[in-house]
Amino acid sequence: MMRRRFIALEGGEGTGKSTQARLLASELERRGVETLLTREPGGTPGAEAIRALLLNPLGEGWGMRAEALLFAAARSDHVERLIRPALEGGRWVVCDRFLDSSRAYQGSAGMLGDELVRGLHGYGSEGLLPDLTLVIAVDETTAAARLAARDGAVSDAIGGRQAAYHSNVNAAFVEFAAAEPERFALIDGEGSVDEVHGRIVAALEPLLATGSRG
Ligand code: TMP
Repeated sequence: MMRRRFIALEGGEGTGKSTQARLLASELERRGVETLLTREPGGTPGAEAIRALLLNPLGEGWGMRAEALLFAAARSDHVERLIRPALEGGRWVVCDRFLDSSRAYQGSAGMLGDELVRGLHGYGSEGLLPDLTLVIAVDETTAAARLAARDGAVSDAIGGRQAAYHSNVNAAFVEFAAAEPERFALIDGEGSVDEVHGRIVAALEPLLATGSRG
């Protein structure tokens, strides 16, 4: 049996992460690797309910601290009820967003700071980290075109924030990847879906190759 691995896909809005997460999970299954495909915020009934509260808030919306707590609470439920049991059962987990989204959106662009976000994660999810985080980076014109194709004029409470917030998010992801090259792979998200998928599979080959029992 292949050693279980936890893979996260990260990036700003419109980078094609969700499509790539699906393709990656299918490719792993094709290779005989039992894989759980999941997403954040969400993945469990409780975390999906928190997702709805975060993306379509009531009243005047959440303050940044409450927002960070809600993401951490959703992640805690997701880790405890779905991700850890899957890993312990020997499956691979492909997760569309994880902790590094909170570091980028709430910690960096939301100005709460990295220490606070990591502290919430330490408490909520016992600091669980992916074995590899794939950051998909595209330029802003590509992201805007992909978002328009996906959402039209509709955006949620976080996707609809101003351009400067999203530029900060995108820059933060690239900085995270540069600061911890052993935990991240920076993937060029430009080009066709198949081209990007090929780059992702290439970045994962070392994990697949060392995937004997462990
Ligand atoms: P999605 O559109 O990729 O499903 O993600 C939902 C939104 O939530 C997206 O705008 C990114 C944001 N987000 C955070 O701000 N912090 C987080 O920790 C996560 C997981 C997502």
